[in-house]
Amino acid sequence: MNILILGSGGREHTFAYKIAQSKHCDTLFVAPGNAGTAQIATNVAIGVTDFEALKTLVLKEHIEMVVVGPEDPLVQGIYDFFKADEQLKKVAVIGPSKEGATLEGSKERAKEFMIAHGIPTAAYESFTEATLKEGQAFLETLQPPYVLKADGLAAGKGVLIIQDLEEAKEELAKMLGGKFGEASTTVVIEEFLDGIELSVFVLTDGKNYKILPTAKDYKRIGEGDTGLNTGGMGAISPVPFVDEALMKKIEDRIVKPTIDGLAKENIEYKGFVFIGLIKVGDEPKVIEYNVRMGDPETEVVLPRIQSDLVQLFQAVSEGTLSREILEIDERSATTVMLVSGGYPEAYEKGKVITGIDTVEDSIVFHAGTTTKDGAVVTNGGRVIAVTSFDNDFKEAIKKSYQNIEKLHFDRMYYRTDIGFDL
Ligand code: AMP
Ligand code: GLY
Repeated sequence: MNILILGSGGREHTFAYKIAQSKHCDTLFVAPGNAGTAQIATNVAIGVTDFEALKTLVLKEHIEMVVVGPEDPLVQGIYDFFKADEQLKKVAVIGPSKEGATLEGSKERAKEFMIAHGIPTAAYESFTEATLKEGQAFLETLQPPYVLKADGLAAGKGVLIIQDLEEAKEELAKMLGGKFGEASTTVVIEEFLDGIELSVFVLTDGKNYKILPTAKDYKRIGEGDTGLNTGGMGAISPVPFVDEALMKKIEDRIVKPTIDGLAKENIEYKGFVFIGLIKVGDEPKVIEYNVRMGDPETEVVLPRIQSDLVQLFQAVSEGTLSREILEIDERSATTVMLVSGGYPEAYEKGKVITGIDTVEDSIVFHAGTTTKDGAVVTNGGRVIAVTSFDNDFKEAIKKSYQNIEKLHFDRMYYRTDIGFDL
């Protein structure tokens, strides 16, 4: 069948890499894609939320499956758009309905869902401009640090963790006053959870599910997890400290109630659930849901999946996921992100990238890249992810770093300590 992937990051190049290997894939399209996807698929210059243009493409190219990478089109209802259209409704869309996507689109909604279904999470209250005073009074009852979350999508910047009470009260006022625009008209104030983070990924058809490999990402720009938050600077899968006992708790208390909760609420959900967790002592608690795969977690999770991804997606679409077998490569996978100097603040684009062809024993996934005058050049903050495998995750990281030595672009930056805390 012909398949379309939406997005342009390292996540989407990794999807393209796996889907291109499937015996079920004939022609693969990526909209808009990057220089990496262009090598294995056909890039089409359409934005991920331009539903009408995507419809035209799907009909013209006889596309039977659409795999949605980022959250924006999901939150805007791409699944519902396809299902409501006579000509498109048979197309398999891998991603939740608009209602399902509210688990990521609204932090308040996600918290209400967790409470309704008994899923362990941090205690919270939510506030609007009308209840600012109550919000500030609530902060006074908490211990620092204070966790403030913009309710809506804020490009990964909407969570503030603040030590000082007065500063937290001021920030709350700023957020409710429109600091993140519409996204912060409601703010969730949450109990701070002290522990180590990990992510669990679930593929579901809305009733049945498969738990995919776990991963841990490194979100801060600086060594030792310091400095500004980024989309992610590296990742490791599996997470070495997740043993069977912890995984059982995660499945029984979090994954199963989440999927059952979706079914009970009659929410159509055929896609990924990315569950961000903090392990507090030995207890896993949910800090967030995302309704898509993570980036760069995808660059370590998908390469470990040995089963045919398109076959799994077909089963997701048809509601027959329980019949499928998920085969996983037991080795560890690690990835290190190369980013543009200045990221996550201002950075330049258009820098020529050299050395990609000389990489051995690692996989280069393109993120913010494009082609210009026959050369691969930088086109975003996060530029390339270098993924490696080994039985020992430390050896896998070494391989990524050895290959990074061969790669170059002006003002290239990366963290040299991915996995330092494991
Ligand atoms: P989120 O966008 O909800 O994933 O939050 C971004 C980051 O803030 C998370 O990856 C955590 O590092 C941190 N965080 C969010 N909520 C909490 C919490 N309740 N306690 C401690 N850290 C948190
Ligand atoms: N790496 C975190 C995310 O994709 O949200």
